[in-house]
Amino acid sequence: MNSKSPSDNVIRLSDRMKHKSSKPVSTPRSRRAAAPRVIAVTSGKGGVGKTNIVANLGFAFCRLGKKVLILDADLGLGNLDVLLGIAPKYNLSHVLMGEKSVSEIIVQGPGNLLILPAASGIQELTQLTKQQKIQILSELDPVIDSVDLLLIDTAAGISSNVMDFNAIAQEIIVVVSPEPTAITDAYALMKVLAIKYAEKSCKIIVNLAHTRQQGNEVFRQLNLVTERFLDMRIEYVGSVPFDANVTQGIKQQKLVSDLFPDTPASKSFRGLVRKIIAQPPSQLPDGDSHFFWHHLMENNFS
Ligand SMILES: Nc1ncnc2c1ncn2[C@@H]1O[C@H](COP(=O)(O)OP(=O)(O)OP(=O)(O)O)[C@@H](O)[C@H]1O
Ligand SMILES: [Mg+2]
Repeated sequence: MNSKSPSDNVIRLSDRMKHKSSKPVSTPRSRRAAAPRVIAVTSGKGGVGKTNIVANLGFAFCRLGKKVLILDADLGLGNLDVLLGIAPKYNLSHVLMGEKSVSEIIVQGPGNLLILPAASGIQELTQLTKQQKIQILSELDPVIDSVDLLLIDTAAGISSNVMDFNAIAQEIIVVVSPEPTAITDAYALMKVLAIKYAEKSCKIIVNLAHTRQQGNEVFRQLNLVTERFLDMRIEYVGSVPFDANVTQGIKQQKLVSDLFPDTPASKSFRGLVRKIIAQPPSQLPDGDSHFFWHHLMENNFS
């Protein structure tokens, strides 16, 4: 049973915030070398393949011996469990009701992936208050000490639910497809991140690319507009090809990387993981936390 109330967490964190500047300092703590990376995977337009990418990247990281936890932050409509063919008994709604702690609801998926499940069909979860987000994240913060990587699978769009999970992460990967509407929505999302959340960088994955050149071209277009209009640098991670085996895997509730390791999409996930390892975060949160709390706290405590 979780005895902490959300207001306890808010008070504790507001206290911590008094001692923290809003900019991370550059003196790393000794535990930094082994500190987990916290990566949010997000998109402007829905259905561009975030959940599939998060799950397969997580699986590929696990294959390299990394301990990976995935937070299904598509609150209210989470479907990561369905994709992985698991049926967790508890989810974040039980944490918010105080029935379970975050560590009590973590379940194991394929390839030793650890999953923090969201709920599906609970509308209230799509409109979490700041206090509720703080409750989830402050419980999660010490739990991720024991993993190498936290991947956050967000919902699509620019709602505060999505943006807050992006803003607290150390790195943001924006998933985009070659469709013009997906490109304009990705730009709109990055614009909000740059202007409202002062994010200085994002990584890009192009999904459903028909050729590698098409992926490069989508990135080039996005880079052109972000360089010109936003105070934000974007970095290309790479592309995932359109691959019918992905859908085949989804139908069987198995990851394509598990089911068909040599299909083009599965190979691309392994390549993306190598690239992500080679592109460390440009800044880390100050102090004991793995999250950039100030983005979430500023509105409440400024
Ligand atoms: N590389 C790919 N090749 C072929 N089909 C794909 C690929 N990636 C995703 N898909 C298809 O796109 C669908 C949507 O993928 P997914 O659920 O991962 O998107 P999402 O961005 O998480 O959606 P939402 O915004 O609703 O959370 C999948 O069911 C799958 O059929
Ligand atoms: Mg999804």
